[in-house]
Amino acid sequence: MKVLVTGGTGYIGSHTCVELLSNGDEVIIVDNLSNSKIEVLDEIKKITGKDVKFYEYDVCDKDCLRKIFKENEIDAVIHFAGFKSVSESVKKPLMYYRNNIDSTLSLCETMEEFNCKKLIFSSSATVYGTPKKLPLTEDMEVGGTTNPYGSTKLYIEGILKDLYKSDNEWKIVLLRYFNPVGAHSSGLIGENPNGIPNNLMPYIMKVAVGELDHLNIFGNDYNTKDGTGIRDYIHVVDLAKGHIRALENIDNNKDIKIYNLGTGTGYSVLDMVKAFEKTNSIKIPYVIAPRRDGDVAECYADSSKALKELNWKAELSLDDMMSSSYNYIKKNNR
Ligand code: NAD
Ligand code: UD1
Repeated sequence: MKVLVTGGTGYIGSHTCVELLSNGDEVIIVDNLSNSKIEVLDEIKKITGKDVKFYEYDVCDKDCLRKIFKENEIDAVIHFAGFKSVSESVKKPLMYYRNNIDSTLSLCETMEEFNCKKLIFSSSATVYGTPKKLPLTEDMEVGGTTNPYGSTKLYIEGILKDLYKSDNEWKIVLLRYFNPVGAHSSGLIGENPNGIPNNLMPYIMKVAVGELDHLNIFGNDYNTKDGTGIRDYIHVVDLAKGHIRALENIDNNKDIKIYNLGTGTGYSVLDMVKAFEKTNSIKIPYVIAPRRDGDVAECYADSSKALKELNWKAELSLDDMMSSSYNYIKKNNR
């Protein structure tokens, strides 16, 4: 298939491009490099030995999208492009609504114009709001998002459901990611945010390489086994493979499809710290800090629908998540 990957130089997008190329698909990336670097293209080539076509455009810009669709006969689109920081979205809600929603509308309108109606969208476990029951299954109620970032995902899901209702020729898959971590085994691509990271794993990685002196654990008084928050961490390579499975199955879809992509296992913050220390034989100093606003005690997936319908399940271990993260940051610390 010829696949357009929006946000393809980003963290999850780059890993997905590697899997697509390894699967024999042709890849075209559109990314405005607002949160990624052009060098990722060389790294993808080093890993796969294959070239990807790249357009440095904003996905909100329909004229640019038209040019891409005119120049390439695209079979399907995987839409990663978007802003993803919860804290930034609270400070700049309009920027988040504009970018995440506008890019999706421009993309879908252009796809419709060119009669390309196969779309996989990066959604998030955040659409479930505060979990009422665990593990989370796809048929559970969504809503009650606590920040503008989460609301963009919820609203886009709604927009895509309406689009499908209006025209059943669309094949749309909403993938709800849990907590992606880790990096490609080559150490060439991964996640290395600028500044002080918001998310746990990038923060641990920066402590590991001495860029930050300790981790703040946000609360040890939750009603969990050790008092710290529990999440469903999934290796980014497993997550990337979920997109390949979704794409391979897309022609069989009789409805808009929604899948949780997680491992089904929850680990606490302390579990993660201990696992990182053990796998990499390194100490991660930490202090217990107050709870972070908007955090829930526990969140993990039931991913059995993806196993049943897509024959996909996460295969990489916690050890793989820890070793690949450290391997990547050691090679890419700046
Ligand atoms: P990322 O920031 O690394 O990648 C997103 C890419 O999109 C970046 O390369 C950025 O430059 C690009 N981009 C942003 N706006 C654009 C625009 N208007 N036009 C063109 N390019 C644009 O993020 P990621 O972690 O790879 O996440 C990919 C997608 O998955 C996002 O939609 C994100 O919300 C979603 N998601 C991520 C997580 C996570 O924990 N990383 C969890 C759930 C969902
Ligand atoms: C967060 C977002 C979620 C988003 C996801 C993307 C919030 C409230 N939620 O999820 O919407 O989809 O990132 O990856 O921001 N922790 C620490 N110290 C740190 C960082 C995190 O103790 O420095 C703890 C958190 O309290 C939490 C766990 O680690 O218990 C995971 O946090 P994080 O990696 O930020 O992910 P989520 O909060 O699950």
